[in-house]
Amino acid sequence: MEFDVELENITKTFGDQVAVDSISFRVPRGSFFSLLGPSGCGKSTTLRMTSGFEQPDSGVLRIAGEDMSRVPPYRRPTNMVFQRWALFPHMTVFENVAFGPSTRRVAAAERRQRVGEALELVDLTAFVDRKPSQLSGGQMQRVALARALINRPKVLLLDEPLGALDLKLRSQMQLELKRIQKEVGTTFIYVTHDQGEAMTMSDQIAVMNDARIEQIGSPSDIYDRPASRFVADFIGSTNLLPVQVTGCSSEMNEVRLGALAFAVPPSGNVTEGAAVMSVRHEQVKIAHERLDLDATVGARVGEAIFTGSAVRYVLTPEGIDSEIVAEVPHSGVEAQFSPGEQVHIGWNAAAVKLFADG
Ligand SMILES: Nc1ncnc2c1ncn2[C@@H]1O[C@H](COP(=O)(O)OP(=O)(O)OP(=O)(O)O)[C@@H](O)[C@H]1O
Ligand SMILES: [Mg+2]
Repeated sequence: MEFDVELENITKTFGDQVAVDSISFRVPRGSFFSLLGPSGCGKSTTLRMTSGFEQPDSGVLRIAGEDMSRVPPYRRPTNMVFQRWALFPHMTVFENVAFGPSTRRVAAAERRQRVGEALELVDLTAFVDRKPSQLSGGQMQRVALARALINRPKVLLLDEPLGALDLKLRSQMQLELKRIQKEVGTTFIYVTHDQGEAMTMSDQIAVMNDARIEQIGSPSDIYDRPASRFVADFIGSTNLLPVQVTGCSSEMNEVRLGALAFAVPPSGNVTEGAAVMSVRHEQVKIAHERLDLDATVGARVGEAIFTGSAVRYVLTPEGIDSEIVAEVPHSGVEAQFSPGEQVHIGWNAAAVKLFADG
């Protein structure tokens, strides 16, 4: 496999603030790669080092196999798309998109052809003569994309490009971006703090926390097999419950959650003693009758929260000090449960992940 971008032990500090702490990753050519993490974890700094706007303190950064340490931003085969699209307000859509090629002295005929292709790609052919003020947010975003893609970068760097759009337009643009990325085959590195966005579009996601990478994997890898408590908590919605590990073997861990004892598959660095278990909201089953699952317990329904596509039940289990949340899809055919009602809840061992405490 060929890699368009490779970072090896890249570190960046600002004064005594470590913004990026010895991170390494490789982005396969032609893939959609996301940097996902909470505010301040170092995503934009990582992107800016890739574009050359920021210099790492140490480590190696290669693009298309070439060491970038002495290559200034304008000589790198990258282009950046920002959250604020920074279109030229006095120029038409055509002139905005043609800007890169015109500074590079591309002949007029070829320039026109390239602008035409780029606008077709982002579905804006009918808007060539408009000014940015006559466009919607989503359309401006597409102009910004066309303006970056027309330069034919090897790698397109996108820093929260959909951040200024409303929810509905965001999800439309996510699909649109993915389609465009597939069509042009350019490597995309996409920065976001929105897990749903990263899940929808990415081939691979690097989950960042506090200047470091916690896990790199496909969306289903990080959802189904979170490598740390942070990832389990950040991606999707999960119950994190304090447990005691009472027995460890290569086949099974014996776990005690309050009065409830059950076995779960072994996980990496867990030893006997205090640990944290994660079971996702949608993996907790709830029923009026007793459940045939690996772990079951009686519980009282506290709250029932209707979210549109699902109902989220907050449950107080018997003999367990923590509340447990169960999420049931809402299709109109499932049993409904009311606050105060006595129910059975449970989950299967395979749905449980164990993490060392701390
Ligand atoms: N030029 C700078 N000078 C000083 N500190 C900086 C500078 N740029 C970033 N930082 C700090 O480095 C850390 C990482 O910043 P960065 O912008 O990379 O975060 P981010 O993950 O992009 O966050 P957000 O989601 O809020 O955009 C933050 O603590 C930030 O305050
Ligand atoms: Mg940022």
